[in-house]
Amino acid sequence: MKIHLTAGARPNFMKIAPLYRELKKHSWAEVRLIHTGQHYDQAMSQAFFQDFGLSAPDINLAVGSGSQAEQTAGVLVAYEKILLADRPDWVVVVGDVNSTLACTLAAKKLNLRVAHLEAGLRSFDREMPEEINRLLTDAIADLLLTPSPDADLNLQREGVAPARIVRVGNIMIDCLLMMTPQIEPLRAWRDFNLEKGGYALATLHRPSNVDFPDALRAAAAELARVQEIIPLIFPVHPRTRKKLMEFGLWDALAGRPNLVPTEPLGYIQFMSLVFGSKLLITDSGGIQEETSWLDIPCLTWRNSTERPITTTHGTNELTPIGETAAAVRRILAGAWKKRGVLELWDGQTAARTAAALHDQIF
Ligand code: UD1
Repeated sequence: MKIHLTAGARPNFMKIAPLYRELKKHSWAEVRLIHTGQHYDQAMSQAFFQDFGLSAPDINLAVGSGSQAEQTAGVLVAYEKILLADRPDWVVVVGDVNSTLACTLAAKKLNLRVAHLEAGLRSFDREMPEEINRLLTDAIADLLLTPSPDADLNLQREGVAPARIVRVGNIMIDCLLMMTPQIEPLRAWRDFNLEKGGYALATLHRPSNVDFPDALRAAAAELARVQEIIPLIFPVHPRTRKKLMEFGLWDALAGRPNLVPTEPLGYIQFMSLVFGSKLLITDSGGIQEETSWLDIPCLTWRNSTERPITTTHGTNELTPIGETAAAVRRILAGAWKKRGVLELWDGQTAARTAAALHDQIF
């Protein structure tokens, strides 16, 4: 069975890594790794391949940066050529980035089968480009591999036939468990002269938080308040760095005594910092899950989450930016919820995904 595992942007790589490793174990699977090149920097792309011990992609479409349409259309045109030449039995897409939708659309127009891993998540906020990608991908993919019961329910409400839905669990946790032996000994906080549990970690990159001067100014001001309470490490996404500079906010923020801005970090180094942190401040999707699993408080700077299970069963709270310093004080005082039972966050999602792909074809 010829399988294309497709990935494009940073949050995709930790989802394909455990699945690649799993599929490689099975003689029935012939896997090809397709990188769309949506992310292309050492820090945003290659570092992850190195951390996961993944070989270089079999094919790199090298679409690079661009507007929403340019990026999506670039993948569509480039991937169609590959599909016509190779005609895989399955195209596997993961997550919700522009590459996810573009690979799905290219494959379905050629009547090829698509499996979407991490299907069914909905923020119900159509201003997020990712929500559009999720809705359209799930509308046309053949096999919808979901992480949680809420995802199944969302799909059923959208009229998806139950036979297309298979709940496989949370693939991010497979990656975390797979990499824990390498993460644990690193203790990356020592590189910053910090103590385990003695610092916070922040990440920020959503267009709604960083693309507008007022929003980014408010975010920078709150990070400045937080670093007065607890030392703060801030790995800066390229988009965020560009905007902080453009809006004249970079120098003041980077000059705060207790705030350490860094380049975007690789998976092992970043997760090591997560393991040692007291709390996270983020607008990422995946970090809401990783912190929930690790039972570390997470303050999410968004109005909605497509991962509601992290707020109902995890350690995540959607937090207005201006209320963050107060929430940090509550966490330091020990007043924060503990995680509950997170079903199918067990490191077996890649195995269930492989079984689902296998079962659907023979
Ligand atoms: C994309 C995904 C988002 C994901 C995020 C993680 C979409 C719609 N968005 O957003 O869901 O959470 O990745 O990072 O697919 N850049 C570099 N080097 C790179 C890649 C990008 O410098 O390797 C710069 C580009 O110049 C660009 C900016 O970062 O201006 C944003 O990149 P882009 O791919 O447009 O979207 P992200 O914000 O990264």
